Amino acid sequence: MPKSLRALLWALTLACSATQADSSAEYALASAHPQATEVGAQILEAGGNAFDAAIAVSASLGVVEPYSSGLGGGGFFLLYDAQRDHVTMLDARERAPLAAHHDMYLDTVGNVDRDRALNGPLAAGIPGLAAAWEHLAEHYGRLPLAKTLEPAYRQAKQGIPVDNRLKQFIQHRRETLQRYPASTVFLAESTLNQPDHADTLGQLMTEGAGAFYEGALADVLISGVREAGGIWTHEDLQSYRIIERDPIEIHWGGAHIISTPLPSATGIILAQVLQMLGEDWLQEPDSIAHAHRLIEALRRAYLDRAQYLGDPDHQDIPVDRLTSMEYAKERMADFNLERASDTMVPGAAAPKDGHTTHFSILDAHGNWVSATLSINGLFGSAFVVPNTGILLNNEMDDFSAKPGALNLYGLIGSEANAIAPGKRMLSSMGPTAVYANGRMALLGSPGGSRITTTVLTGILQFMQGADAQTMVSTPRLHHQAVPNVVFAEPEALTPSKISGLEALNHMIETANPWSNMQVVVRDSHNRLQAASDPRGIGRGHVGTLQR
Ligand code: GLY
Repeated sequence: MPKSLRALLWALTLACSATQADSSAEYALASAHPQATEVGAQILEAGGNAFDAAIAVSASLGVVEPYSSGLGGGGFFLLYDAQRDHVTMLDARERAPLAAHHDMYLDTVGNVDRDRALNGPLAAGIPGLAAAWEHLAEHYGRLPLAKTLEPAYRQAKQGIPVDNRLKQFIQHRRETLQRYPASTVFLAESTLNQPDHADTLGQLMTEGAGAFYEGALADVLISGVREAGGIWTHEDLQSYRIIERDPIEIHWGGAHIISTPLPSATGIILAQVLQMLGEDWLQEPDSIAHAHRLIEALRRAYLDRAQYLGDPDHQDIPVDRLTSMEYAKERMADFNLERASDTMVPGAAAPKDGHTTHFSILDAHGNWVSATLSINGLFGSAFVVPNTGILLNNEMDDFSAKPGALNLYGLIGSEANAIAPGKRMLSSMGPTAVYANGRMALLGSPGGSRITTTVLTGILQFMQGADAQTMVSTPRLHHQAVPNVVFAEPEALTPSKISGLEALNHMIETANPWSNMQVVVRDSHNRLQAASDPRGIGRGHVGTLQR
């Protein structure tokens, strides 16, 4: 090789290694608990991608925030695979057991027995989280479950400090947790150790998450559930499947919004409300008329939710029509600028919180995950299956147990969301991504029926240029048709707006803060932000990988 060429190659090699040494890439994530965010960062820094981090963060949340989500529950993972330029939603929603039936929660006089619908193993749908881990690891991740589940295993084994939030939630569900011997594991004072939960995670680390659905662990789950009055069978577990679904994609006001399809209502409601507002809405001055239009659009979309939405694999649901502009115009044809519409159904106050969780992750390769997971109410059904540490959900209450009867969130439903064997219950969980003005945001939240309006507020804020911190902090408004009340966080409406809306016949109730949004933003210069809702205890983190 001529000397000059060798010198050139050497110079190129040096230049390349200098580029490699200096080259770095940022990642960002936000979750509802600092220890889960830390676990996600560890996995990304150990060579995992966003999908590996999603497994690790969700496993950790099940340990450090056991009142919100976990192996006994399910949820939705909205994700983008940068290499395949592919966006999809993993539907890990619980299913009704095959022995479930339409009237299973009705008492002898035909009223819903709220205790059976909410507490104990009869309230639990067939969980999907373990199947989601298996699916993510097999089709999207780079690391084995032995690696991604290890931090959660350690947290469960070594114990976690009982923070004030956990203490308060334990107190709230103490009486029901005390009904079930294995659930008393949560009645900890200063350190919460979960040895059975750790052993179960250890089993999934060695045998794969499929062990949840078949084999020795499945046997223990079925016998534990049935001995305590539940109706699960082996067939329920063996036949559970993750479904990859096409998200709802909305083009509105120059933004591209990607959100959840059925069996979540959120993507459809977002499409409906945004079209009912009209694309000029964002440019209009903030006024009483502006808020009035938003409230009226929400009223109509939530009434449609109750009437039409449910599991798309169990009945035909007119999604194309509901999300069309033509329908939005028809629906707003009776909109009266001078007066609120009547909601012709009675209602009680909607409780504010679903104990659900959200995390958003963007890795250094451009992959992202926006995931909302749940066991439904606080500590789910409060039933831990003996010898497993697995706290079961009470998602069966998300079905309409009786047309017109209110569920935990004050939501009503119809036959579209009635109970049937193997059916997925309608959800509000709405992990979402928005692309607008060269920027991108990942967002989502718990909040039961208020998830949808929390996400909507985040989208509208983002489209007006808000950063991640502003998105999580902005005061929120909520209206779900039934009850006929506009709920407002303090500061969400000025006193003059409240009196102006009341003059239009709206009922306004100022309520304590709700939801717990976790946001990641990539700005138009590819700089990242991560923010966790100040209403919760979570953490956002932006880190740099050296590569
Ligand atoms: N369990 C709350 C929801 O899915 O909407």
